[in-house]
Amino acid sequence: MEVLVQPLNRVIRVQPGANLLQALQAAQIPMSYSCMAGRCGTCRCRVLDGEVMEGGSDQQRLLEGDDSFVLACQTYVTEPCTIEIPEPDEVVVHPARIVKATVAALEDLTHDIKRLVLRPAKPMEFSPGQYVQLQFTPEHARPYSMAGLSGDGLFEFHVRLVPDGRVTGYIAHELKVGDAVKVSGPLGSAYLRRRHEGPMLCVAGGTGLAPILSILRGAIAQGMANPIHLYFGLRSPRDIYGMPWLEQLERDHPRLNVHVVVTSGGNAATHRMGLVTDAIEQDHGDMSAWRAYLCGSPPMVEAATVVARRKGIAAAHIYADAFYTQGT
Ligand code: FES
Repeated sequence: MEVLVQPLNRVIRVQPGANLLQALQAAQIPMSYSCMAGRCGTCRCRVLDGEVMEGGSDQQRLLEGDDSFVLACQTYVTEPCTIEIPEPDEVVVHPARIVKATVAALEDLTHDIKRLVLRPAKPMEFSPGQYVQLQFTPEHARPYSMAGLSGDGLFEFHVRLVPDGRVTGYIAHELKVGDAVKVSGPLGSAYLRRRHEGPMLCVAGGTGLAPILSILRGAIAQGMANPIHLYFGLRSPRDIYGMPWLEQLERDHPRLNVHVVVTSGGNAATHRMGLVTDAIEQDHGDMSAWRAYLCGSPPMVEAATVVARRKGIAAAHIYADAFYTQGT
């Protein structure tokens, strides 16, 4: 049977029941993937016409509010259909794997955020904005986003300690420099789109700053000259961190504007008060030429998605990992 692949306008022939990702790969269609297991969201595409059979989770679809999205690695072709693949010129292929690493540094960034630096035994390629699963012991594992770049030789993560959190409690009280950690990945579809030349909206809630730093550093390393607005949302002034890094990035990228927005505990003379979503609403008119990178807690990501859509940013140009985990 035939599958029409858009926007390439190519027809491929597949056997009934064929796995969609394998069929696309066999036809040499440029397609991002990583985990092959329905976890990373990298192989997400859209069914424009026809029915397919799905074996994966619907986490990604819930965020989109659109049930035409599927994960190609978890999808089987059962009748002729039309598939839209995302951005064939922005393909990212870093097959997920497991790398051993050791803790190189563990230090306080704020009263409840730690900076964890790991030294991997072997390099692992990833795209700016992606994340990995860290396994400290068989019982202690969580996903965290990298704050740096693939070529750094070290992985940097920002960990918010959750009161009574089992894994973050382990990180705060038991993990020490020299300990072994298993790193699996990379995962995630909210990576930097390097070919986009228009304005970029970056929204970071709390430790969501880590993947946004990676995206900003990646954009600068690529020589991208896009105007960038970063909205960094925090609960109170004592939660602000990373300002020296952001100031350095502003010096390196003159078209970067950083807006720090505090929900409570500050005053209007020293801080911009309110919600990041209100700040974006106030600052910008039509944003249809923009792309958005949203990183933080699921409620913040959902609220920011609504604002971005209302301002005209296409759903396909909003990049967020629904399951980005901040705590526990
Ligand atoms: Fe399909 Fe990871 S490659 S979800």
